Amino acid sequence: MSYNDDVTVTYLGAIPKTYFDQVLKPALWGSRKTVPLQYDQAGEWWLARSEGQIVGCACLLPMGSKARLKSAIVHKDFRGKGIYDRLFAARLEFIQNDGRFSSADAFCSPMSLTTLLRYGFVANGKRFGGASTYVTKVL
Ligand SMILES: CC(C)(COP(=O)(O)OP(=O)(O)OC[C@H]1O[C@@H](n2cnc3c(N)ncnc32)[C@H](O)[C@@H]1OP(=O)(O)O)[C@@H](O)C(=O)NCCC(=O)NCCS
Repeated sequence: MSYNDDVTVTYLGAIPKTYFDQVLKPALWGSRKTVPLQYDQAGEWWLARSEGQIVGCACLLPMGSKARLKSAIVHKDFRGKGIYDRLFAARLEFIQNDGRFSSADAFCSPMSLTTLLRYGFVANGKRFGGASTYVTKVL
């Protein structure tokens, strides 16, 4: 049994703004620090839950043939257990098999950069005054 067997990762697809405002944001907002958790009408979402509690989320924003990976947050009490890794792997598998996308990109915080590099993303310099690293991947 691995450390996060009780965590489920689910693809939700698009979500209504009311769900974002009333459920998702309150569950994770206190854990965001400087990284924005933004609603996009066209965004597609993955949720991580532990015993029914929302413990993480991640968003894919389709931008033509490019998949923008954004708004990934894991609740601070549940970090270091590989939940982000699972959310990330689920999104990457989806965009690689979906057929809409030829590339992916993201603006990474220092906390997420190691994961994206491990999945083959390439760093293309700092953005937002050094707070983020812009990474890209050809699919
Ligand atoms: C980034 C974040 C989502 C990681 O969630 P997590 O579930 O704790 O991450 P994991 O347990 O899957 O670990 C993923 C990797 O991040 C690394 N990591 C975790 N916390 C870290 C930290 N504070 N500093 C640097 N690296 C860190 C882990 O070592 C791991 O790398 P490895 O697989 O190469 O060893 C979480 O810290 C978070 O919500 N941070 C605030 C929001 C944020 O920065 N989101 C990223 C948006 S681009």
